[in-house]
Amino acid sequence: MNLPTELIRREPFLWINPSLEIDIDLDTADMEQAKNDWEAFGPLIAELFDGAEIDSALTPLLGFFSDSDAISFLKQDNRLPVAGSIKARGGFFEVLSHARELALQEDLIKPGQPLVALASQQTFFTNYRLDVASTGNLGLSIGLMGRAIGFSVYVHMSADAKQWKKDLLQSRGARVVEYDGDYSLAVTKARAASLAEPRSYFVDDERSLRLFWGYSKAAYDLIRQLPDDITPERPLFVAIPCGVGGAPGGIAYGLKALLGKSAHIFFAEPVESPSVLLGMASGKRDDIKVQDIGLTGKTLADGLAVGRPSGYVCRQMDRVLSGIFTVTDQSLLAMQYRLYREEGIKCEPSACAGLFLPHFIRTEPGQQYLQRHSIKPLNIRYVFWATGGALIPEEKYQDQLAEGKVFLEQQPNMLD
Ligand SMILES: Cc1ncc(COP(=O)(O)O)c(C=O)c1O
Repeated sequence: MNLPTELIRREPFLWINPSLEIDIDLDTADMEQAKNDWEAFGPLIAELFDGAEIDSALTPLLGFFSDSDAISFLKQDNRLPVAGSIKARGGFFEVLSHARELALQEDLIKPGQPLVALASQQTFFTNYRLDVASTGNLGLSIGLMGRAIGFSVYVHMSADAKQWKKDLLQSRGARVVEYDGDYSLAVTKARAASLAEPRSYFVDDERSLRLFWGYSKAAYDLIRQLPDDITPERPLFVAIPCGVGGAPGGIAYGLKALLGKSAHIFFAEPVESPSVLLGMASGKRDDIKVQDIGLTGKTLADGLAVGRPSGYVCRQMDRVLSGIFTVTDQSLLAMQYRLYREEGIKCEPSACAGLFLPHFIRTEPGQQYLQRHSIKPLNIRYVFWATGGALIPEEKYQDQLAEGKVFLEQQPNMLD
């Protein structure tokens, strides 16, 4: 197996996907269906959560990158209403799709009838159970939406999951099952627990199509917010933090389907858990995990602490994804601090990974990529997906900021 040496040596680098088809024509039927379903779910979400709408602001980052005149934006899913992370885009979609399916099966509603009636059917839904495995944020999304609808919810959590996420879930009545192992173990256990319960529905972060298409709707949301002069010559470069691959994969698919060769999508992964990079670069997809090449899979970026990628996502990204870059935990903390200091924006470490894309575009593989696609650096419009953070307890956040400040002072140039 011929893997990039940086991958094995845990050195941050940009991997360019050799199978990219820049002008690919993708089928939009599933994402259009998901968009229509999201519209149908809107009034129900608003009823359950005080008028909430599941989208976030696109915030210009002015002067954040000192030597770059390219225009940059932050897509602020760190403040996504209710669950405070990108994972709600898929998680809410799947819970509500399942709730609607059950309600139709049991004649609680008729086809085409508004779904808002489901907001007061908690007694019906307590008879049904949801199981999900999570490093944290997917669990929060399934737990918060599942409990609001009335489901009994079991969240199976890996050792990386943060205590405050477990506490929040328990305070909403979700059961938290903890494992002293990694995320892949939690998924295996959760799948088995769900199979053993006839009324349980398993939200499968590694394989769920509902999650994937639920995430893809974010592409429509982003395009509505962008300037309308995105062209192949003035393209969009989007960077999304990546764990198992579902959230960034769904969004990447959606953006490529809608923008074609005007969109270039990159994922960002920690140096110790670059699961999708390994799955794609080796061609082995979910037949390989980061531990197989001597990495630990451990990172403080808990949302990205995934050793084995989704095989489905690796396959979908084969011709769609431009590349993947890797980042260290220290640089994530330093970037988290900079975002706070310069923009007053609160993110969790995982959510800051995308902001390193301009740095990697300046490295040799990045420059070759621009040449190959005849792109002038100043014409790039960057979108960094800030994927989570609103719900971090203040005390924990302050501790992370203090650590990040130290790393930034030690290595002020690491973020250029
Ligand atoms: C904050 C944050 N960013 C990014 C991701 C990556 O999403 P995925 O695991 O679907 O690749 C996660 C996953 O939990 C997350 O919590």
